[in-house]
Amino acid sequence: MNHKLEIINLYKKKISLLKKHNKLYFNNDNPIISDSDYDRLKKEIINLEKKNNFLKKLNLNNKIVGSPPSNKFKKIKHLKPMLSLSNAFNKNDMQDFINKIRNFLNIKDKNIEFSSEPKIDGISATLIYENGILIKGLSRGDGVIGEDILENLKTINEIPKKIKDNNAPSLFEIRGEIYIGKKDFNNIKGNFANPRNAAGGSLRQKDPKETSRIPLKYFAYGFGAVKPMMFNTQAEFLEKIKNWGFSINPLVKVVKNLQEIELQHSQIDSIRSSLDYDIDGLVYKVNDLKLQSRLGNTSNSPRWAIAYKFSAEKAVTKIKDIVIQVGRTGAITPVAKVEPVTVGGVVVSNATLHNEDEIIRKDIRIGDTVKIQRAGDVIPQVISVDKTKRNQDSKKYIFPEKCLCGATTQKEVNKSTKKEDAVRRCLKGYECDFIAREKLKHVVSKDAFNIDGLGKKVIDQFWDLKLIRKPSDIFRINYNKIENLEGWGKLSISNLKKAIDRSKIIDLDRFIFSIGIRHIGQENGKILASFFKSINKFSDLFNEKNRKKILENLIELDGIGQIQIDSINSFFSSNKNVEIVKTLIVELKIINFKAQSKNGKFSNKTIMFTGGFEKMSRSEAKSLVESNGGKVLGKISKKLDILIIGNSKPTKKKIESAKQLNIQIIKEIDWYKLLDL
Ligand code: IVH
Repeated sequence: MNHKLEIINLYKKKISLLKKHNKLYFNNDNPIISDSDYDRLKKEIINLEKKNNFLKKLNLNNKIVGSPPSNKFKKIKHLKPMLSLSNAFNKNDMQDFINKIRNFLNIKDKNIEFSSEPKIDGISATLIYENGILIKGLSRGDGVIGEDILENLKTINEIPKKIKDNNAPSLFEIRGEIYIGKKDFNNIKGNFANPRNAAGGSLRQKDPKETSRIPLKYFAYGFGAVKPMMFNTQAEFLEKIKNWGFSINPLVKVVKNLQEIELQHSQIDSIRSSLDYDIDGLVYKVNDLKLQSRLGNTSNSPRWAIAYKFSAEKAVTKIKDIVIQVGRTGAITPVAKVEPVTVGGVVVSNATLHNEDEIIRKDIRIGDTVKIQRAGDVIPQVISVDKTKRNQDSKKYIFPEKCLCGATTQKEVNKSTKKEDAVRRCLKGYECDFIAREKLKHVVSKDAFNIDGLGKKVIDQFWDLKLIRKPSDIFRINYNKIENLEGWGKLSISNLKKAIDRSKIIDLDRFIFSIGIRHIGQENGKILASFFKSINKFSDLFNEKNRKKILENLIELDGIGQIQIDSINSFFSSNKNVEIVKTLIVELKIINFKAQSKNGKFSNKTIMFTGGFEKMSRSEAKSLVESNGGKVLGKISKKLDILIIGNSKPTKKKIESAKQLNIQIIKEIDWYKLLDL
């Protein structure tokens, strides 16, 4: 149990770290880790999931990649969500990718073909055609809701405004990547760090005339909704749309096996710098669209595609200083201020050093010459120190023992492993101004109160002006004091007021997540909300006696362990915290928890399998049940509704007990019929 909890906690930490970096990158345009670090973090999360199936059930890893839409443009829901891709970094990763596909589809011998396509480092967009006419153009946004940037997209000459073929689908959603050619970028540069930012900036101009000044180009690479469907393979799709006037990357190729994948990888890598657009890898997609649809998606990426990345770009620079940053959980993160250096076209002046242990392990010192790495535009990291270049009088870096607020920091000891945590923390919570400010940023963030127009920079601004110090202050802002500030006008204030008012109605699970109890992430917010059901019941935690009793019951909840319970206890043991939560509740309308039911053929049914299927793997069967609203169980019990029997070696005992319990039994052949397979 403890081991499992540790894994869950590690996993959650990584997920929230990823979210943090997503926000830094997408919301603030201020990434603090390198792309390859970012990719590594993503990979660590996926590896943890791979090794620990139970993590997937937490369902935390959804919607964690992508930029939330800004409020400049009208928001429109995508006809089909725009997913992101998982990454591969080497031949082994690609072998894993292929093996997984084979296992999922239960294909042993047949070769699987892949469409290999350059992964353009630009900005993705969706074009929607109705009866051949371009009627909508959206940015990716958070993948579910995008921004209406049609007028800006229309300024791109290469994008067909009309498909001149009566046989084209009557509804056609085309996806592609918008970019600026490297040469064009050199001519316009302006304030942009790299072509990708320039393309993004240009696409988000309020005035399409501004967009039209910048020579944007695009490559189409995929489709969303298509009616009627008329393609059998990805290659055929690309070929057809090329004939319809869409611009297709000339380096796409169908490959048949790992050797061909490797060959393509090194060939394209070798001509990469001569291309007029940035690419950071190759995308591999299962070519057969029927197989694609059988493979389906995990929470945020398709099982049928992967981005095989090229290695990260590196540069050498010098550390001018090491400073610390304080996070909302009190975690102290060291950051190297480096002499500005260009890495792959971007000027870098900050690089993360992760934590104290990392500094000790690599013996990183102020004044050191270091190699830093970044790929894409996310936060760079220091990867190694060139000790031959070190000054004789250089001194070991002593990690500060005090937080920026002056309080002594601590490394916690993990109760079960007895190991010291790598991260140093300030334990002052809301009493530390630096933590309090970060906590406020958490409160307003997308997964919490989701207040448009109240981003991190605004929180900093309002904090400095002493307009807000605690969450309830958000709902009592003195707008008169903002009116005359730079960057604020009548309209932006009225929009902010509206956004804040809207956020006053909040679901219980979001509220619980928002108050920022350590170890209580979104998923635990949901679990706790389903337990407490109402804010009144939740408020019983404020009282010490009640709390003790409640906490004893919480241990029975799947997903809540001792770490969470201790954390809830310590959070509410602080009078300051109780006060902060109480004053916040007064401002809000908190909605009681309601259990959700899913639609589909197995809506609210519990299903179990025994025996193997001929046409599919157990994973595919499970994902079919889940996408049809059902839940797969591992044991036969009265709670089970249906037992599905595969032809290959079903367990007799299971069938017997199911019969005894009067559980519905479905044979393999009827299972296919039920699903129209
Ligand atoms: S396929 C569900 N193909 O990479 C499949 N994406 O990390 C989704 N991209 O948001 C994407 N070139 O912006 C695909 N040939 C290509 C691509 C490509 C660039 C971008 C796209 C997407 C991101 C996925």
